[in-house]
Parts: sequence; structure tokens; C-alpha cells
Amino acid sequence: MVRKVAILANGGDVSGFNAVIRGIVKTAEENGIECYGFIDGYRGLLNNNFIRLDGQKISSGILHTGGSIIGSSTNANVFNYKVEENGEVVYKDLSEQCIENVKRNEFDCIFTLGGDGTQKSARDFSVRGLNVIGIPKTIDNDVACTDITFGYNTAVSVAAEALDRLHTTGETHHRIMVLEVMGRYAGWIALESAIAGGADVALIPEIPYDINKAVEKINKRIKRGKRFSVVVVAEGATPKGGTLTIENTRDNGKGVDNTKLGGIGSRVAKELEELTGLEARNTTLGYMQRGGTPTAFDRVLSTKYGAQAMQFAIEGKFGILTVLKDGKLDSVSLEDVVGENKEIGAVSGNTKESNIRKVTMDHDLVKTARRIGICLGD
Ligand code: F6P
Repeated sequence: MVRKVAILANGGDVSGFNAVIRGIVKTAEENGIECYGFIDGYRGLLNNNFIRLDGQKISSGILHTGGSIIGSSTNANVFNYKVEENGEVVYKDLSEQCIENVKRNEFDCIFTLGGDGTQKSARDFSVRGLNVIGIPKTIDNDVACTDITFGYNTAVSVAAEALDRLHTTGETHHRIMVLEVMGRYAGWIALESAIAGGADVALIPEIPYDINKAVEKINKRIKRGKRFSVVVVAEGATPKGGTLTIENTRDNGKGVDNTKLGGIGSRVAKELEELTGLEARNTTLGYMQRGGTPTAFDRVLSTKYGAQAMQFAIEGKFGILTVLKDGKLDSVSLEDVVGENKEIGAVSGNTKESNIRKVTMDHDLVKTARRIGICLGD
């Protein structure tokens, strides 16, 4: 019997966090269940910092808002938490303190809104006896076992609008316009926005690119009188035989995978300018993809995820991720989602090994892109 539940939002923010929270709270309220929210994700769980999410107060006015009314944390892995001891930085497993907090406050279920890393911690808490239900979030759309994550559709819309705008300025000045979008391990945003925004080239992490293929495509267009081209590049795209383009290495508090990607767009623009003779300009879309109001699609998806997750809690179904499978709401065990995740052990500059859902070559988006002549760099 579930009486009191808590929500935490973790990882990089997306548009739709608040719509999920609202979906959970409204469904809880319909069933006489009390809702709370931990502040700043797992950090709030660790510090026992939470607020009451009162349906009357919070359910109006947040459906369409960006951000998260309970914050989010991108660097709070409580199983490997950065602390200072005697002037030295050490990483500690503080999960026991979190479990104590849940027990002391008598939370019957914790909802974890987050991507791969967040769900890995959720799985670890579930193994240790907490009732946990995950909801898949990330603009990158790369969580395993679900058709789609919330926040992704909004990111694609923002990228598509940026491409529309780059299109007209590129055409006016006879330039190659490059757009660098997010997508650390997976190229979903780049690929889908390329189709939505009519790009000529899309470079994604899953297909190491040969810049000469992009040059061929652009030259073909020049021959046909099109003296401009639009190129989308995912931040995690790499040239054949090359490595990731990294802006800097930062202390993300996780001790793993601590590189900030960035710069591949400028690199591609520079190379294309040299090789085609056309002027090229790069725009890095960055955090525009994560902020602001969610699309109608994301509002609905987030509401469906929130309401279904609460329903699973009422039915006593825990240790699961709420997913969309072939267009239908469903659940999958957290173990299946992150079971092979080998995050600990990755080193600086390397990407972590995990179950991340990448673009597959037989996906409709890849087939469509190829059929209409979008160059994928191979
Ligand atoms: O995981 C989503 C994501 O948008 C990645 O594509 C990107 O590399 C990362 O977040 C950057 O986030 P932050 O700078 O907040 O760590």
C-alpha cells in the first residue's frame, strides 16, 4: 500500500521535467497519496532535503514550463560521491545514508527521472531494497529499452528551427552553415533534426565520417547551382580513425567520463571551407536544446510517463523503468536497462561502456536520410 512517495530529477535538465512531476502528483492526488520532491536530484536524497509537492499549489502553471521545480544535479553519484577528507579529494559510497533517509521519512516509493547514469543508481538502490520506479529522460534519446525519452522531441524542434534560420542566411551569403548539436554517444538529435530541417549532411557518432564525402555532396549541390549547404554535426561525431573533439576536461564529481565535448562543428566548418572554396560558419546550439517550454508532444509524453509511473507504484510494481515500447506504455526491469553498465572504470577521455541506445543502421531515420540523399559522412 503506497501512501507517501518522493520524486527526484537528476542529470542534465530537459524540457518536460515539470510535466512529468505534474503527472505523478496529479495521479497521486486522485488516489490520496502524498507527494514530495527531493531538491537537486540524488544530492537532495543524500542531504535529506525535500519539499512537499502539493497538487493544488504546484499542478497549475508548470505543464508548459522548462527546467525543474525541484532542481536537478549533474554530478551527484551517491555511490561514488566526491568528498574532501583531510584536504584530500576522495570518492565514497554514501548510498547507505540515502537509504536511511528514505526509511526515516517513510517514503514508499522513489521516482527517478533521469538518463542512463541516474537509472544505474536507481537499479543499485532497488537491489538494496528500496522501491524505485524510473522514468527515462534525456535530450539525447539514448536510454536503453524505450522508444523515446522525454525532452528529446523538444530538442529536435529547437534544432530544426535553428536549421530553418541557418538555411536562409546560408542561402543569402552562399555559405556552408554548420550546426553543432548535442548527442554525446548517439546521433538521434542530429539525424532527426537534419530530416526535419532539410539539412544536406548529418554527421553522427555512430558513423565515423570521411570529410571528403561531405565535400562531394556539397560540390554536387554547387554544380546544380546551389551555392550553399546546411550541415548538422552531433557533438560526439568523430572522423574515421580519429577521436572525439573535447572542449575541456572537468571535474564532474563522478570520477568518470569527465570530458566536456565541443568544437567538432568549428572543425568541420573549417575543413569544409578549405576543401570546397565556399565560406563556412559554425553555430553551436548548446543549452538552447535543453531549456524553455516543452513541445506539445513532450508535454503529453511526460504526462503519460508520470501518470503511468504512479500507476505502477499503486500496483506495487517496483525496480522498473517506465517505457514506451512500440508506442505503448510499458515497464522493463532496471536491470535490463543498465545491467551491463560498466561506468566505474572508465577513464578520462574515454566514453563509458553501457547499454546506451544508439542509432542503428536499419532505423527508419537512417534509411530515410539516405533515400533523400542526406550525406551521413560514409
Ligand atoms: O546528456 C545530455 C547532454 O545534453 C549531452 O549531450 C551533453 O554532452 C551533456 O548533456 C552536457 O551537459 P552538461 O554540460 O550539463 O554536463
